Amino acid sequence: MFMTINLTKLVFATKNKNKLSEVKNMLENSNIEIVGIEGEFDPEETGATFEENAFIKAFEAAKITNLPALGDDSGLMVDALDGRPGVYSSRYEKTDEKRINKLLQELEHTKQAARSARFVCSMVIALPSGEKVFSTTQNCEGEIAFLPSGSEGFGYDPIFYLPEKNATMAELTMEEKNKLSHRAKALGKTLEWLISGKNN
Ligand code: IMP
Repeated sequence: MFMTINLTKLVFATKNKNKLSEVKNMLENSNIEIVGIEGEFDPEETGATFEENAFIKAFEAAKITNLPALGDDSGLMVDALDGRPGVYSSRYEKTDEKRINKLLQELEHTKQAARSARFVCSMVIALPSGEKVFSTTQNCEGEIAFLPSGSEGFGYDPIFYLPEKNATMAELTMEEKNKLSHRAKALGKTLEWLISGKNN
């Protein structure tokens, strides 16, 4: 049977306040309402890909809230490390500072020309029934800097250098980051799909 799904209000399947404020900022002028998830939310990220983990989070949030949910899984892939830390980006070390230091140490002997990397973001919309109605995976290309710089953003932003901006991601304002980041691109594709009405 053909069914119309109301996708104007979605729950964002994350407890990461930085991600939530980035996404809220990007949706400010749209008619899509995004709400945070209340209470304990920590689904086990057992997927082998960003997309699988984004779905795990989205389905869990949709089940809990009975709302369509937007799941985001993201991370950093470094070419010189064969794509690591990848889906393990948040589990690579215990704090942002330790993650950054470990990565810089691993790349201690890697010259600038070989420090290419990308942020990757998968976004998935799942329904409480478990149906995956949309997914996209987007990248933001850059390099791993030799030293951290900047205090905006979160996570690996201080060591993610964008040659075209001559700045690290943490040296950009949220508005600037939201024009070029992996998350901004993934959300852009998600919005295009939501607004195009392909979902009804
Ligand atoms: P997730 O919550 O499992 O998606 O964790 C993603 C990991 O990648 C976290 O450790 C973040 O620090 C890192 N990450 C994801 N997106 C960004 C970003 O926009 N900037 C910096 N680090 C990010």
